[in-house]
Amino acid sequence: MVLSISPVLLSYDAMNRKKIAAANWKMNLSQDEGDQLIQDIIAGIPGNLACEVVIAPPAIYLTQMIKQLEGTDLQPAAQNCHPEVSGAFTGEISAAMFSRIGVKYCLVGHSERRQLFDESNQFIREKVDAILENQMIPVFCCGESLALRQRNEQNDFVRLQLEESLFHLEEEQIRKVVVAYEPIWAIGTGVTASPEQAQEMHAFIRLMLTGRYGQTTSDTIRILYGGSIKSDNASILFSQPDVDGGLVGGASLNASSFLSIIEAANT
Ligand code: PGA
Repeated sequence: MVLSISPVLLSYDAMNRKKIAAANWKMNLSQDEGDQLIQDIIAGIPGNLACEVVIAPPAIYLTQMIKQLEGTDLQPAAQNCHPEVSGAFTGEISAAMFSRIGVKYCLVGHSERRQLFDESNQFIREKVDAILENQMIPVFCCGESLALRQRNEQNDFVRLQLEESLFHLEEEQIRKVVVAYEPIWAIGTGVTASPEQAQEMHAFIRLMLTGRYGQTTSDTIRILYGGSIKSDNASILFSQPDVDGGLVGGASLNASSFLSIIEAANT
């Protein structure tokens, strides 16, 4: 007997994934500018919030930001962490430390960390484990360079990133992970992946997750797009069936542009 999967069921699963609008401030804004930005976002957030809103400021602002976010629907995130709990790692901050002050999400494997700080898939795997052990949600970033895409090797590259840093996880662990596909050629360049390019890679990532963990689990995992998301392209990107929101750099530094990206995720 041939089992057919009803399209109604598939779209129901897609709708069940709560979208995420995540801000990555990177190494930007003064403390005062950050405070003001958060106040403006809180003031403008839609009353009927149906998506998750996550903010990753520079680590030094987190303690104060967590107080500001109390009683709101915004969630604090770290941009990076060290997998060891404590020790002689000058300048580093452990996943355990972030968790203890109330951080809920942690970016891991961002391409800037991979490229500028030589982070390997193995090291990123250790961070993923530490983030989960400390009851935070990893936002696992992956994505290929322009040279790899020009050689049509993007799928093999992203497959290896997933296999080497995520696929050791148990099923109940992978369900907590958020994946962010961020093609390096689109980050901070103003060149956004087309909705078709994003959907194609997101569908491939979901297929990989299905192969490893089965359809039911794979259908629950949020896959965000990142790379030059702006208020005017967020809606079309987020309306792709396998795009569950976005990780936003430059456009998250301005309240009105990030608020319209939240609107786009709030459908
Ligand atoms: P961008 O950055 O939106 O400025 O391209 C995205 C990111 O690096 O997460």
